[in-house]
Amino acid sequence: MGIENKRREILLSKEKIDERIEALGKTLTEDYKDKNLLVISLLKGSFIFTADLVRKIDLPVRIEFMTTSSYGHSEESTGQLKIVQDITADDLSEFDVLIVDDITDSALTMTGVMAILSKRNPKSLKACVLLDKPSRRKVSYVPDYVGFEIPDMFIVGYGLNYGDYYRNIDHVFAFVD
Ligand code: PRP
Repeated sequence: MGIENKRREILLSKEKIDERIEALGKTLTEDYKDKNLLVISLLKGSFIFTADLVRKIDLPVRIEFMTTSSYGHSEESTGQLKIVQDITADDLSEFDVLIVDDITDSALTMTGVMAILSKRNPKSLKACVLLDKPSRRKVSYVPDYVGFEIPDMFIVGYGLNYGDYYRNIDHVFAFVD
């Protein structure tokens, strides 16, 4: 059966996501209050999470976007991180950089991006992800801020895609048999 015809099971409702993002925003507002925050959002998956999160951070904040790609149109990571579009700055020494992504799975994307950005000398470099699937790691990595730890299931919505669709759904759901 094609995935589109499968039953949808809601994993995280819009209300649950909103509530968690509000709390993350409060924590980040406190942690970055004396810093010079630069959010770097990893497209495309994180565009919705980033938009919601930065509006809950009550501080001056700069936002840059970097487009990364590891999955293509399949459910499994290719294991090859591609920087489709980089940020323009090659010197980050003024900034406390917070990378924002929708999900960390194998962690190849996050560790790859961290390696690239750390060469640009940020004052500090941390990451905030909405979803974390620690059971899927190919490299050891723990994100600094996590919205929800989730089990190993294929999920879509709220920025996450299947075949580049479903990113606009306002909650996270799984296709089940
Ligand atoms: C997804 C997701 C993360 C990455 C996580 O992006 O948005 O950036 O995979 O997987 P990893 O921890 O195994 O590296 P993808 O490359 O599919 O592109 P997208 O953001 O355009 O959906």
